[in-house]
Amino acid sequence: MGLLQRIREKAKADRKRIVLAEGTEERTVRAAAQVTTQGIADVTLVGDEQAIRRQAQALGVDLTGVQIRDPAASPRAVAYADLLHELRKEKGMTREAAEKLIAENPLYFATMMLKTGDADGLVAGAIHTTGEVLRPALQIIKTAPGIKVVSSCFLMECPDRSYGQDGVLVFADCAVIPNPTAEELAGIAISSAQTAKALAGMEPKVAMLSFSTKGSARHELVTKVQEATRIARAAAPELAIDGELQADAALVASVGKLKSPDSPVAGEANVLVFPDLQAGNIGYKLVQRLAGAEAVGPVIQGLAKPVNDLSRGCSVEDIVSVVAIAAVQASAQ
Ligand code: ACO
Repeated sequence: MGLLQRIREKAKADRKRIVLAEGTEERTVRAAAQVTTQGIADVTLVGDEQAIRRQAQALGVDLTGVQIRDPAASPRAVAYADLLHELRKEKGMTREAAEKLIAENPLYFATMMLKTGDADGLVAGAIHTTGEVLRPALQIIKTAPGIKVVSSCFLMECPDRSYGQDGVLVFADCAVIPNPTAEELAGIAISSAQTAKALAGMEPKVAMLSFSTKGSARHELVTKVQEATRIARAAAPELAIDGELQADAALVASVGKLKSPDSPVAGEANVLVFPDLQAGNIGYKLVQRLAGAEAVGPVIQGLAKPVNDLSRGCSVEDIVSVVAIAAVQASAQ
């Protein structure tokens, strides 16, 4: 069974409530019905109820079992606006502005459902950008206890099963933090190890990647990765984290043995932490295209409750998978 199928099965075993903020969008409507039929999660669509029903009818989609929450008619709208105002007033948000966001921006409405426990996870991004999906989550849901930074990872399922754990590796951060500090990089490493365990059942071995292995080169960029490794180890001494390592030393047993013989990670890494977003984003796309790996993500990690972003080019199947991922993250939390 492939990784995504395993994640879907996990989601079915502990059914969670997932809200889809883009309720009238065609692929989202189709995905809501599939998720419900397959028993992956209990789904709520947010949006104008008539428009959602018209869309479903036009598509020939049966929405039996799918909940609909219309911000314009919701009895929860006032409570959401009150709480949003309370949470953001120090940042200058007025009560009127909060009310307008809840009424007019389904991402804020859905994020408040998550915040108040009316949902366990949120998925959006079929028609909104990464920034538009993440901003309310960063402002309202905030980070999980003990985690200082929200980041992302991709689960990479490679045809060559000799790397990572049976061909599965976690790459981070590939989508959120453009230029992390050493402390943020350490946070990315710890969150990625947690995601590897929660979603892929992996025993994480985390490599902090660089163009240097254990001091083979000197540069301020290398120093940052060394510092991040030190911080991550101090914060999570129970995890196998090592760095700085070049990618070949991290992945290939013979190279790892040669370049870093005492490392608990070198040669067998399954979580790769890239030094910045350019490296991470380029890295996952190269492995996806050149090695034919399936790239699952971006999985957003470090939030107190799961919010996941879709690619705007996503398929119905992609949405179903991301719903399953959010459900499994909710279970793990
Ligand atoms: N972790 C935790 N909190 C954060 C983070 C973070 N990584 N980033 C921002 N915040 C918080 C801030 O502290 C702030 O909170 P506050 O308002 O309560 O003080 C709030 O979020 C907003 O902060 P801004 O600095 O204004 O953040 P902004 O909204 O401008 O940006 C974003 C956040 C959208 C995630 C930004 O970092 C970004 O654009 N990242 C790159 C996304 C991207 O384009 N990725 C590539 C495409 S995806 C792909 O290819 C798969």
